[in-house]
Amino acid sequence: MQVQWFPGHMAKARREVEGNLKLVDFVIELLDARAPLSSENPMLHQIVQNKDKMVVLMKRDLADPNVTAAWLTYYKERNIPAVAVDASNRDDMKQVVQLAKQLGKKKIDQLVAKGMKARPHRAMILGIPNVGKSTLINRLANRKAAKTGDRPGITKQQLWIKIKKDFELLDTPGILWPKFEDQVVGYRLASIGTIKDQVISLQDIVVFVIKFLQRKYPDLLLERYGVEADLDDMVEIFERIGKKRGALESGGEVDFDKVSELVLRDLRSGRIGRISLEDPDDVSMEE
Ligand code: G4P
Repeated sequence: MQVQWFPGHMAKARREVEGNLKLVDFVIELLDARAPLSSENPMLHQIVQNKDKMVVLMKRDLADPNVTAAWLTYYKERNIPAVAVDASNRDDMKQVVQLAKQLGKKKIDQLVAKGMKARPHRAMILGIPNVGKSTLINRLANRKAAKTGDRPGITKQQLWIKIKKDFELLDTPGILWPKFEDQVVGYRLASIGTIKDQVISLQDIVVFVIKFLQRKYPDLLLERYGVEADLDDMVEIFERIGKKRGALESGGEVDFDKVSELVLRDLRSGRIGRISLEDPDDVSMEE
């Protein structure tokens, strides 16, 4: 889902999440495995306050496995339970449930210790648009891709989805806004298709992607497009990609817009290879 965020939307989103937080024992924060820090909501910390949290890195099938492993270490070092998943992989879904059960059990054990009756533990999914919230809920619930509440005539109401005997998930995910203030973050989110293409020009995003690939994944760039890491003439690079992959106008000239669309399609679908746009080392350098 693509959403244009305005202050009013942000305030409403925050209120909704805060309302639902009261109903759950912990939150499941979804991030994009290709850019975990860029795909965080900038205020999540303040919004969830002292609720327990686990992280699910979505779309691991598109991310660089070595970098994903480094991110899992990063979260482990910070005592944040985290797992990386491909939503179409059943074993990955089991891992999410297992981690959630561990986290929820802690809370229920505390209640039981205080003399209360054990009950299922409850969680809600949170994340920015397009990170995979509906997909994950549907996979965990074992149902088809229909989004919650979008069937005509059916009033959207809050429901608990029973994932396991002792684990329930709020049917509606919390949708939060992405980071806006940092330009590099914007480029990363645009590259993976999380923010609207119209916000930054397609050609600009592709220039960012190509420079990134030249630095981090030169072999993949060379293999798919015949572009070397040390070639810095962007016009020449676009021309080469256009000719190699057939992004041409009717007169046979290279069409720069078509080249941009093609590179982004290739990147987002994993056709260039498994690529992560952010790794923990870059982040510590930026910090
Ligand atoms: P949202 O509710 O957070 O907004 O996200 P949603 O589930 O709609 O997922 C956004 C897109 O991400 C969907 O693609 C979905 O199939 C894809 N996706 C979710 N999880 C995974 C995953 O683990 N791996 C991969 N490769 N893709 C995943 P889509 O329906 O094609 O939408 P779009 O790409 O046209 O936005």
